[in-house]
Amino acid sequence: MNTLTVDLGTRSYRIYIGQSLLGKAELLQKYITGKQVMVVSNETVAPLYLKDVLGMLAGFETATVILPDGEQYKNLDTLNTIFSALLENRFNRDCTLVALGGGVVGDITGFAAASYQRGVSFLQIPTTLLAQVDSSVGGKTGVNHPQGKNMIGAFHQPRCVLIDTNTLDTLDDRQLAAGLAEVIKYGLIHDAGFFAWLEANMDALKARDKQALAYAIERSCTIKAEIVAADERENGKRALLNLGHTFGHAIETCTGYGSWLHGEAVATGMLMAADLSARHGWLQPESVKRAEQLLQLAGLPTTPPDSMSEAQFRELMSIDKKVIGGKLRLVLLKNMGEAIVTGDFRQDLLSETLNMAGKNA
Ligand code: NAD
Ligand code: GLY
Repeated sequence: MNTLTVDLGTRSYRIYIGQSLLGKAELLQKYITGKQVMVVSNETVAPLYLKDVLGMLAGFETATVILPDGEQYKNLDTLNTIFSALLENRFNRDCTLVALGGGVVGDITGFAAASYQRGVSFLQIPTTLLAQVDSSVGGKTGVNHPQGKNMIGAFHQPRCVLIDTNTLDTLDDRQLAAGLAEVIKYGLIHDAGFFAWLEANMDALKARDKQALAYAIERSCTIKAEIVAADERENGKRALLNLGHTFGHAIETCTGYGSWLHGEAVATGMLMAADLSARHGWLQPESVKRAEQLLQLAGLPTTPPDSMSEAQFRELMSIDKKVIGGKLRLVLLKNMGEAIVTGDFRQDLLSETLNMAGKNA
């Protein structure tokens, strides 16, 4: 087992990464403050892993909420079902919530914990690659609004993150690829050496080689932990983690939540960001090609849907959380492994990117 720390002073927490961690009750129990524990999962993940997690909670007063599965349920109505269950079970302020599932379950559960009785503890047990390398770490929680992705939420850090890599055995290939998009993101924004490692090891990752996956998860979490520790509330450096997300969120919102997977939309968004960076002469065309090839090797889309017009992109991108004083800022690449957040990009070049040749049907 590998242990990492997200260094946030008194709110620091551990990330445990290893095989067969579901079953190591002591890892979970030491982070539970009161007696009452609510496990939140969904209808796909619960039949696979809920029994193991409840087994780790012997001796506690437990209750469960099983949510419908899908990004389209990441909304205020679903959040309310968690509040209702907490109230019906008379859960107090010293209760703990456990998120068991992918990023959707993690984000909703974290937001429920942030707001129930003005804030209770929660633990993350992420079961998708995307959640293991990104969403379970860093304390961003929330739900979608029909007009914008992740528009309602709060920063609320978990008390620990327990990553059992065996849970990836039941994940389908499309979801694994979606997680690889966020892994590739870390190489693009922060670590050219890791990007090269991914180029050399993408076949092993897709074949679910345990060692390769464990390294990719550990390296991703290390980079994320470092960035979150430096800028928890996204006043600066943390925004770099949003490479491709402004374009990607527009695709997710426009196509209807759940149609494009988050990781797929981010993959296309990252290539659009790379394309725009190259149009400014910042990124070498050769680096754009490498990014495109790696994303495609991972099984990810790299061109936006044909059905999306430039006007739709611009409209949806204008409500991005990085907009300040009405000015859109984007995460762009200066080099392989080096990203910036900037509002200083040319509108004519953005138009060219938004109309990228060869858009998908
Ligand atoms: P998801 O939670 O929808 O999970 C994907 C699918 O895999 C679902 O059908 C789920 O039921 C299923 N699943 C989960 N674990 C499984 C397992 N072990 N075996 C079989 N099936 C399993 O999607 P996701 O990709 O995990 O997360 C995407 C969400 O995360 C988006 O809402 C995105 O906005 C959010 N996100 C948040 C952050 C953050 O910092 N909070 C970062 C990145 C993404
Ligand atoms: N996924 C972006 C962030 O956590 O900041």
